[in-house]
Amino acid sequence: MRIILDCDPGHDDAFAILLSVASKEIELLGVTTVVGNSYLENTTKNARTVLDLFDIDVPVFAGCDKPLFRNVIVAPDIHGKSGLEGAQLPPAKRPIERLHAVDFIAQTLEKYSDVVLVPTGPLTNIALFMIRYPHLIKRIALIVLMGGGIAFGNVTPAAEFNIFADPEAAKIVFQSGVPIVMAPLDVTHQVVVTEEEVRKMRLLGAKFDLLADLLVFFKSTYKRVFGIEGVPLHDPCTVMYLIHPEIFETKDYHVDVETKGELTYGQTVVDVWRTTGKTLNAKVMLRADRMRFFDLFFEKLSQLREA
Ligand code: RIB
Ligand code: CA
Repeated sequence: MRIILDCDPGHDDAFAILLSVASKEIELLGVTTVVGNSYLENTTKNARTVLDLFDIDVPVFAGCDKPLFRNVIVAPDIHGKSGLEGAQLPPAKRPIERLHAVDFIAQTLEKYSDVVLVPTGPLTNIALFMIRYPHLIKRIALIVLMGGGIAFGNVTPAAEFNIFADPEAAKIVFQSGVPIVMAPLDVTHQVVVTEEEVRKMRLLGAKFDLLADLLVFFKSTYKRVFGIEGVPLHDPCTVMYLIHPEIFETKDYHVDVETKGELTYGQTVVDVWRTTGKTLNAKVMLRADRMRFFDLFFEKLSQLREA
């Protein structure tokens, strides 16, 4: 399965990148970056750093450095000033591709008709691609995104970060007609990294010790900001769905995005009781088999040792 991972590394984005590379079921055609957890310069550097750590030959394309309309927001309280604090990772060496992320997505979709887009950050690049290349929208095979929430947000009571960072972009994507699988906070908070997973990560070897350090930092910010022990591994839920959908329970719903509400700006409005009668435009992940998730997660990541 061919994918493009559109991300804002970001600790959990980093593990989504590694999980996709470690999974033989997936051909990662490219990583595109967007402003989100940190500024574009940082998210792009962080993507290159993670790929370089394991000498992974996948190109990185920088995308949008601000949302479609609203002001830029970033998340240093969660991911640190650099966007990937917590470990002394060797500096990125690979170049940033000259092509803009949106044009890379277009060129890839012109070449292949079975590409899955996997956004794990704000949806600005995806929406701008749809605005600039409307004739190519129908060539997107599937979008599997981390974002939104059914019952709660994390930036406001109603809105999750990826959507809140660019609600207008998210609305374009959810209304695009492209098949969507959505990993909301309700499911990502079921796959929480604890001390046990940090310990297991260190056992995989020296480079994984650095990844464990990243998890320790990520856990510490969730403890400080949200008061919870353990950190949800949000973004890898997208990649894990692609390789093992059977470990998730899903249901088809109508989902739209609030772009006007004073208290609800950026909310993904999930029509759980199908009261709107509108098209069921998203397959929403509701439950995850946590044990299977982490068994598979470590089984896949351990493949990187041999790479
Ligand atoms: O709300 C969680 C999402 O926001 C994740 O994608 C995380 O990386 C941040 O981008
Ligand atoms: Ca992310």
